[in-house]
Amino acid sequence: MCGISGIVSSENIAKDLLNSLRCLEYRGYDSCGLAVLKDKKIIVRKNIGTVDEVNAKERLTHLMGNIGIGHTRWATHGGVTKENSHPHLSMNNQFAIVHNGIFSNYQELKEELVDKGVKFLSLTDSEVFAHLIEHAYEVCQDVEKAFIAALQRVEGSYGVAVLSYHEPQYIFCAKKDSPLILGLGEGRNFIASDINGFLEYTNKAITLDDDDYAIVSKDKYWIKNIATGQKVRKKPFTIEWDVETTKKGGYRHYMLKEIFDQPHTAKQALKIERSRIQGLAQMIQQSQNCYLVGVGTTYYVAIVGQYLFAQFLHRHVPVISSDEFHQTAILSENDMLLAISQSGETYDTKMAINYAQSFDAKTAAIVNVMGSSISMMVDQVIMQGSGPEICVVSTKAAFSQMLILLRVVIEVARVQKYITDDEYTVFYENLNDFPTILEATLNEQSGFVRNIAREAIHVHNWLFLGCGVYFPIAMESALKMKEVSYMHAEGMPAGFLKHGTLAMIDDKINTVVFVPPPDQKELYGRTLVAIEEVKARGGTVFGFTFDEDKKSEQLLDRMICLPKVHYLVAPLLEMVMAQLFSYYVALDLGRNIDKPRNLAKSVTVA
Ligand code: G6P
Repeated sequence: MCGISGIVSSENIAKDLLNSLRCLEYRGYDSCGLAVLKDKKIIVRKNIGTVDEVNAKERLTHLMGNIGIGHTRWATHGGVTKENSHPHLSMNNQFAIVHNGIFSNYQELKEELVDKGVKFLSLTDSEVFAHLIEHAYEVCQDVEKAFIAALQRVEGSYGVAVLSYHEPQYIFCAKKDSPLILGLGEGRNFIASDINGFLEYTNKAITLDDDDYAIVSKDKYWIKNIATGQKVRKKPFTIEWDVETTKKGGYRHYMLKEIFDQPHTAKQALKIERSRIQGLAQMIQQSQNCYLVGVGTTYYVAIVGQYLFAQFLHRHVPVISSDEFHQTAILSENDMLLAISQSGETYDTKMAINYAQSFDAKTAAIVNVMGSSISMMVDQVIMQGSGPEICVVSTKAAFSQMLILLRVVIEVARVQKYITDDEYTVFYENLNDFPTILEATLNEQSGFVRNIAREAIHVHNWLFLGCGVYFPIAMESALKMKEVSYMHAEGMPAGFLKHGTLAMIDDKINTVVFVPPPDQKELYGRTLVAIEEVKARGGTVFGFTFDEDKKSEQLLDRMICLPKVHYLVAPLLEMVMAQLFSYYVALDLGRNIDKPRNLAKSVTVA
């Protein structure tokens, strides 16, 4: 799981290539490197560390050349070492390659190459590709042919890019089950694992499909099919994201910026054309079973969806973590799968879609990144339009996905007459008012949340509890706490607490409770019982509550009291404030907030 980038230009590219890697760093960041070609010589500089650390060690920006490829790595095969970082050179330095994915047959290929006298410098699966292409070139003396020959030998998944001193004006690249996109600029062209790699330089892009390869020069490109060699015609698309949204904009971390982006994200989600929402609504109505999948945060988004389906449509939708989908889901062609994915590249979710498709079930997705694999795999896609989410942990994208699910569900509810037209109008009035309320709440409460978080940094164990739809909100908030603060945090249904976990309560564990508005009587009552249970055992309880909730005020040790909002958006408001709480805890603990240890934003491997 890594980021690939490449630039061909008439000018020096090292600075832009490095910048491009910086923008892809969220895909993996334990090591990185560049290969630049000048005067028939390929120079590779690479090392372990973040892009800026490696630049400081290796002076990457000092490299001279008009064509280059780069890579930011998150180790899978082979530890985090300089040798294992990319680019990899072929033995005679004729080719440099970068690779994202896994060559599953690399062991056999390696043995074969070693028998031919190749000396491997790394422990990666990727390095085989550099030697395969060099060996093929020796036979055919043609880079394109050698590239195809090497591609035909490898199995598994790849986004791969190659520089060769035999063809110094071209980058050769190809993809299979791993993303690769071309960016078309003025007098220069780009390749990258996703559009963030060149968003700053161009908003015109072309997505490569599996088994496509491309040859890219500074002002031309050719896309062909690996098996047939036939040219593939593709129309460029325009990226609608604003490049400013990729900047921190004065915030200390992307996470904070993205939390504060959410009023705008909400507006974007509400702007998605109603016809698109209705399209998905219709697919759901026509399906016999509708499965929801996601992983990590998007799994919890899917569970929020499950509660909405039950509440508004009286319909049970199974939710399965994408990685377990194939173990339990039994589909027919009348069923559908709705996948949720910010990046649109998550391996587990892609596999769940493939699995559903193998039953001829329909597939749909809610995705943020344009041109991503999932957006192209499914029968129907809703693009979130949340803008780039740079921080590894998801905040605004998940928030938007929940709003979109809410819109889809109330659309079905109206058609199926579970709600009246008047109720539908009231829901939309409340949704439309929400961004303003959210913005005001963030501004007013941020300082207060910060203070409460500061008092809590000595706490190493957290329990997050909620009832009904507040349960997945609690789960997601616990995940956020784990991801950014590295503290132990567990989420669970508030009613589940007494069935075991209560044994853990003492003065060292803190409990966070998502209290619904008091007029949600059943949920509210059950939530308060859980608070009492913890308090009775000497536990400390923090709560997110709404105005005029006197009972909670009496029970809670600390509370973050929010303005009264419609029950439809109340869980979302609490979730945003919990994001802020985790952010501030992590900030005071000095964590690497935007790139938490061991995590990557887009997990494109099994
Ligand atoms: C990774 C990230 C998580 C994210 C999950 C799903 O595990 O670290 O933060 O929730 O992938 O990603 P997706 O792009 O499919 O939403």
